[in-house]
Amino acid sequence: MHLSNFALLLETFTCLVSAGPSRRRRCAYGDSCWPDDYKWKAFNSSISGRLVRTYPSAAVCHKERYDAELCHTAKENWANSFWKTNQTGAYTSTLWELGEKGQCFIDSPRDAPCDQGIVPHYSVAAREIKDIQAAVKFADRNDLYLVVKNTGHDHLGRSSGEGSFSIWTHNLKGKKFHKSFVPKDAPRRTCGIPAVTLQAGEQWKDVYEAAAEQGVIVVGGHARTVGAAGGYLTGGGHSPFAHYYGLAVDNLLEVNLVDAKGNSRTLNRFTDPEYFYAIRGGGGSAWGVLTSVTYKTHPNPSHIQVGLAQFNTTDDSTCRTVLEASLRALAQVTEAGYTGYGVLGRGDNSDPTFQAIFFQPNTTNETFGGAFQPFFDITSLPGVSGQVMNFDFPSFIDYTRAFLADPNIATNNVDASRLLTADVLTKRPDKIVDLLFDNPAYGAGFNFIGKVDAKERDNTAVHPIWKESRAVFSMSADWKDDAPLDVKRRMKQDLVRISERLGELVGEDGGTYVNEANPYEPDWENTFWGSKYKRLLRIKRRIDPTNLFICNRCVGTDIVLQP
Ligand SMILES: Cc1cc2nc3c(=O)[nH]c(=O)nc-3n(C[C@H](O)[C@H](O)[C@H](O)COP(=O)(O)OP(=O)(O)OC[C@H]3O[C@@H](n4cnc5c(N)ncnc54)[C@H](O)[C@@H]3O)c2cc1C
Ligand SMILES: *[C@@H]1O[C@H](CO)[C@@H](O)[C@H](O)[C@H]1NC(C)=O
Ligand SMILES: *[C@@H]1O[C@H](CO)[C@@H](O)[C@H](O)[C@H]1NC(C)=O
Ligand SMILES: *[C@@H]1O[C@H](CO)[C@@H](O)[C@H](O)[C@H]1NC(C)=O
Ligand SMILES: *[C@@H]1O[C@H](CO)[C@@H](O)[C@H](O)[C@H]1NC(C)=O
Ligand SMILES: *[C@@H]1O[C@H](CO)[C@@H](O)[C@H](O)[C@H]1NC(C)=O
Repeated sequence: MHLSNFALLLETFTCLVSAGPSRRRRCAYGDSCWPDDYKWKAFNSSISGRLVRTYPSAAVCHKERYDAELCHTAKENWANSFWKTNQTGAYTSTLWELGEKGQCFIDSPRDAPCDQGIVPHYSVAAREIKDIQAAVKFADRNDLYLVVKNTGHDHLGRSSGEGSFSIWTHNLKGKKFHKSFVPKDAPRRTCGIPAVTLQAGEQWKDVYEAAAEQGVIVVGGHARTVGAAGGYLTGGGHSPFAHYYGLAVDNLLEVNLVDAKGNSRTLNRFTDPEYFYAIRGGGGSAWGVLTSVTYKTHPNPSHIQVGLAQFNTTDDSTCRTVLEASLRALAQVTEAGYTGYGVLGRGDNSDPTFQAIFFQPNTTNETFGGAFQPFFDITSLPGVSGQVMNFDFPSFIDYTRAFLADPNIATNNVDASRLLTADVLTKRPDKIVDLLFDNPAYGAGFNFIGKVDAKERDNTAVHPIWKESRAVFSMSADWKDDAPLDVKRRMKQDLVRISERLGELVGEDGGTYVNEANPYEPDWENTFWGSKYKRLLRIKRRIDPTNLFICNRCVGTDIVLQP
């Protein structure tokens, strides 16, 4: 190529790039543009002293921050999700607290290293909307690397960041039930419907207990401490009730948020339909800081039916047969209205080959018998020891008290995932089983199983494949906190390859659930949002023209973590 052509090409390229917002500085702690102590002091007094110097959650067990009592509490509660999510600097996955190289371990000696990791340097422990407004304005004015943290449960590292400044929403508590809720600016004579308004720090267990007292249910997660009004919602939010009532975003009537200018705004399908669309599945903190959300509520079921299926095998060939048959069975079981969660094994240790729990409100034993026939058939295959059974709970709250758990706290869990359609489950189960056997070091399972009500799908920003999906399938890595760097890197790279194979398996129109996805997903825009990404990017440019709100693999981001 002639040199001048090359220069021209470069210029065109620069023009193309500058069509988007120019990259912010994103000042982090240690950078020369990080505000001085004087500025921080003034800011702290402007927010009633709610600025917190933030440390990893094991810092209380080391060196100058050692505190015998707090360290004891931390050790006792290390895998307790209620304690974890109540710490300013704690994250569910150690990876998102300490990063790849950081050390600050709970079980290492008092004089062992305790690094800052990728925990924010300062957090605003917000208690009022005006704290969040002040924080957003301060971050904007000073070009800070801003993150938003609620529970710290995120799978993609979107709620932490090295040297960042964090808005912590956990202390914003409050639930208000409405008999008849009408969104702001709705046309006159719009009928009100039953709903609940949740402040940004609410967590599902507390919401479920309060809803039970009101005699209603809320479409929420199958977990106790996941945030009910943060990243769970902006990613879509699947639920045991999704077959009947859709995703959390489908039940969203209105939100209040602080936008990129620091204004507090009420958004719904009347006030700003495009902005509201983006919040309904656009992911992470790209759209502002939610301060409260209003969901529809629904009548209590008359009872909850639970179905269980478990199969053990002792040789590879039977194991494959059972796995394939179980995958095929999911198409029928989800068609009949069941949602569920499951784990796949390889029959090579004491773990079951297939194990899943299913859920359906109001259903009969007859429905169960019909829908679960393919599972009953598996129990009679030679070489299989299996169990398929069902029982009833009188109410959803009884069910939650028995079955809701928060797995994988204080691990280094990283997933690669795809949404599987009935077509994939019934026609290509052998390919999924191949993937399992080719990658024996990685766990496999379903973070969600179910045919999701899709009436609202085109009004939401989640990947269109949710219309046809029957399960969120994941393969996952976990490593010991002190695993060598090359082991961690190899596992991350393996997961990228697994993502690619899953991509081939589901085809071009396939995608995944952004909240339970690979943090290093290669073709992330397409895999998380498919054909909806372009529209989301347009909205992002309008509502956040200087790109203040960014996170790993969020719409319009310039932060894309590498494996
Ligand atoms: C134990 C466990 C169980 C789970 N169960 C389910 C389930 O049943 N269904 C399901 O769909 N998912 C489930 N998930 C996945 C869950 O949806 C994601 O982890 C999600 O990111 C959690 O959101 P959070 O706000 O609690 O977490 P955080 O890590 O605090 O935040 C996640 C993302 O949301 C952003 N964010 C948080 N709060 C706000 C806010 N107020 N305004 C703007 N942005 C905000 C953060 O910046 C970050 O990008 C589960 C995860 C775990 C760890
Ligand atoms: C902010 O002010 C409060 C109250 O004066 C104080 O306790 C806190 O330590 C300050 N935060 C920081 C980071 O200095
Ligand atoms: C959360 O932490 C705060 C401050 O450390 C403490 O006062 C409070 O009791 C804790 N709440 C729970 C539910 O553990
Ligand atoms: C279950 O039955 C109850 C009581 O009859 C009813 O109010 C509710 O709408 C039903 N729920 C579903 C999901 O069918
Ligand atoms: C399968 O194996 C597990 C672990 O050994 C055991 O606990 C379970 O009861 C077995 N289930 C069946 C159905 O055989
Ligand atoms: C369904 O069967 C289970 C167990 O077999 C039983 O406990 C339950 O009462 C039955 N439910 C109905 C509605 O008949």
